Amino acid sequence: FPVIVLISGSGSNLQALIDQSLQGKLDIDIKAVISNKADAFGLERAQKVGIPTHALDHKAFTSREAFDEALQQTIDQYQPKLVILAGFMRILTETFTKHYEGRMLNIHPSLLPKFKGLDTHQRAIDAKEQEHGVSVHFVSSELDAGAVIVQASTKIETDETASSLADKVHALEHVIYPLAVKWFSENRLTLKYGTAHLDDTPL
Ligand code: GRF
Repeated sequence: FPVIVLISGSGSNLQALIDQSLQGKLDIDIKAVISNKADAFGLERAQKVGIPTHALDHKAFTSREAFDEALQQTIDQYQPKLVILAGFMRILTETFTKHYEGRMLNIHPSLLPKFKGLDTHQRAIDAKEQEHGVSVHFVSSELDAGAVIVQASTKIETDETASSLADKVHALEHVIYPLAVKWFSENRLTLKYGTAHLDDTPL
């Protein structure tokens, strides 16, 4: 099942996908990893297992539209069935998100619709939330607002810091992102009228 992964940073979610596919738990073929930052550590993770990589520096483009167009061309040469955003820190144009409607996923470190945007762990602590977590969702043109597929949560302890909370949430991310990707690769997960549907066909 051909997929493309987009990253900007460490790529620990990418690593979770690589590991599960190497272990035969996830039947995906990561055709390429694309980063908007040339120094993203995730690119090394990909290269280590022989996955082609592309660094597409957004600063080299005169507009958001021009960058997204180049990104789309880079992606589409591989004809992926799914585009996986894994810590890709760029706002995408409506043209781009429409092109991949129903076939692009993102992972966001909050219990959406709470805490869209950045700095979610500190914001959850500051808001005195009892729990916090992570969401996998289909990407729509509005930031962090697409149909939610699956969420996982953890308790916020009284002595919790943004960094301890981030660690706990990351561990959850590495469980639920491969799971959602697995569902999609089994053709069980679809976006219908703006809502995520999971087909309950027994595995
Ligand atoms: C994760 O926290 C993810 O939820 C967010 O960006 C971070 C990426 O982490 N969208 P990594 O690069 O996969 O380690």
